[in-house]
Parts: sequence; C-alpha cells; structure tokens
Amino acid sequence: MKRPILIHPDPRLKKACDSVPDLDDELRALADDMLETMYAAPGIGLAAPQVGVLSRLIVLDCVKAEEAAPRPLVMFNPRVTASSELMNVYEEGCLSIPDQYADVERPAEVEVEWTDRDGHLRKEAFGGLWATCVQHEIDHLDGKLFIDYLKPLKRQMITRKMVKLKKERAREKA
Ligand code: NI
Repeated sequence: MKRPILIHPDPRLKKACDSVPDLDDELRALADDMLETMYAAPGIGLAAPQVGVLSRLIVLDCVKAEEAAPRPLVMFNPRVTASSELMNVYEEGCLSIPDQYADVERPAEVEVEWTDRDGHLRKEAFGGLWATCVQHEIDHLDGKLFIDYLKPLKRQMITRKMVKLKKERAREKA
C-alpha cells in the first residue's frame, strides 16, 4: 500500500528517529509499503520519517537502467561504519522536497551495516550513486535533509518554495 510522503517543512522530518528493536510483521509491512511508495514516486530511496514513522528504517534501489533487474534494499538500523577520504559530488533531490536539486559533497565510498528484512545483520561497501543515496537516507533518520548542506540563502529559498507548494496542495484538497 502506497503511503503519503511528507513535504518539507514538517517537524517530523527534523527529528532523530528511534532504533528498531525486534522486527515484526508490522515493520516488514511498513518496509514493503515504503518500497511501493518509492517506486511509484518514482525515487531511488525513502526513509521512514518521510512517511511519518520515526523509526530507523530506509529503503533504496539505485539500479537505473530499465532493462536491469531491480535491487530493492531494506535497511533497519543502518549505520555508516567507514567512509572514504575521497569525496564525490552528486546533484541530489528528495521526495520530500519535490523538483529541487542541488550539488552535495559526500564521501565517495561508505561501508554500511544494517539489519535486513529477514533480521540478518549485513555489511556492504557502496560506491557511486549508491553511496550518495544511502548516506542521504541515513541522514533522514537523524533529522537531516540534503538542503542542510547548502548555504543558508539557498536553503531558505527552497524552503519558501516548499511552503508555497504545500499551501497550493492544501487549497487543491479543500
Ligand atoms: Ni530524501
């Protein structure tokens, strides 16, 4: 089931999320809903706070080529255990900040540890777009958005646009 995605600014997008203790069917259903929501958007990553759940859960799939097999990843309690000194710049966007993009610099490679959908502890090194995406999503779990890396003026400009967008959408609904 698709879930509505919160749009910035929203206090729930600025909160540090709680660790997930034991996996249960409810959490697995949430992860499945998040993947469905992400693919439908379409997007390459989604964090639980973006659907209003303040738990440490992210989903991602950075396989871009249409003909390639999808690789949906579900990560409970993900954490970066190592980062490369080498940095990389990607133009980032966010499903909670529609149609806004900006360059963000992050470590080019990261090693991430997480608990998968079956409750197994996993560890993997990510590079390229995967590295950027997984860091962007983990940031969400600490209440951090990609626009927090931008200069204040640019961040305020984007936030104002989002306030306007939310007002327009609320008016459409009314
Ligand atoms: Ni995002």
